[in-house]
Amino acid sequence: MALKVEPILPHFGAECSGLDLTKPLSAEELKEVTDAMDKWGVTVWRNTGLTDEQHVEFSRNFGYLERVPKRPDGQKMRLPYRELFDASNLNLEGEITTDPAAVEYRKGDRLWHTDSAFLEKRTSYSLLLAHITPPPGVGGETWFADTRTAYDDLSQEMKDRIEGLVSINSLWWSRKKAGADVSEEEILERPLARHPIVHTHKGSGRKAIFIAAHTMDIEGMEGPEGRQLIEDLIAHITQDKYTFKVAWNPGDMVIWDNLCTMHRGAEYDYTAYKRDMRRTTVREGTEPHTMDTGDDPYTALFARSPKAVDINSARDAGR
Ligand SMILES: [Fe+2]
Repeated sequence: MALKVEPILPHFGAECSGLDLTKPLSAEELKEVTDAMDKWGVTVWRNTGLTDEQHVEFSRNFGYLERVPKRPDGQKMRLPYRELFDASNLNLEGEITTDPAAVEYRKGDRLWHTDSAFLEKRTSYSLLLAHITPPPGVGGETWFADTRTAYDDLSQEMKDRIEGLVSINSLWWSRKKAGADVSEEEILERPLARHPIVHTHKGSGRKAIFIAAHTMDIEGMEGPEGRQLIEDLIAHITQDKYTFKVAWNPGDMVIWDNLCTMHRGAEYDYTAYKRDMRRTTVREGTEPHTMDTGDDPYTALFARSPKAVDINSARDAGR
């Protein structure tokens, strides 16, 4: 059965159906999926029926999957595979976490961002699968923004101004913006990643703005000037005309290409409703079904994290 694609905005986002993602796809079917991703940037797949294992297997079609930080021997994980990033508000027992550090860490997800922009090795696709969702109408949706059309619509003057600029990104900068108690000096001592602010999106050949809540400064610009430019670009990209939101039901999966989108989680009462979302994260430029690349950036990153926002110890404390 052929892939069916229904656009959400005229140039951005599509609801997809007609493929059974729980079974291995043919080369032709996979090409249909990547073509849809290249064109629309975000694809929404309803009621997939995917298990954790099938989620990981399907995701491997798109490259190497990043792994969550290694836990010390003997400590259990809530999810069965290191390829599944836990985007839930739950503790190890599957109950709503009350730990302030875990709650604070997740607040950063509600700022507009691209996943892993704080790593030198960027993420192409994120594949987020809903397991438990808040009831309809109480929030917890995910918003997406179109960084290619937003780039197209910039004035020539602004395009000229940002061409060739390089951003400096930190995970802890986004956590600070969301209220975490971490100083700029501490942030600068932690791992930073540099990325061009404008790049050409490989799959479509279109230019896109690459920026995130993790973007702290712009190389060669004095702090306030660079930070104002970052805020202005995010405000431009996230105008209504470039954005839409996806409301979730269990079993739904959304794939987004971080190299041509931004996203953020919508507010909801995380003390009242369980929201269990699990994400696989594809490293840019890696071959399908790559199982090992010999490096492990997340374990390295979290080994050097400020304690106040360490998601691992936060989860332990929340037990
Ligand atoms: Fe995210």
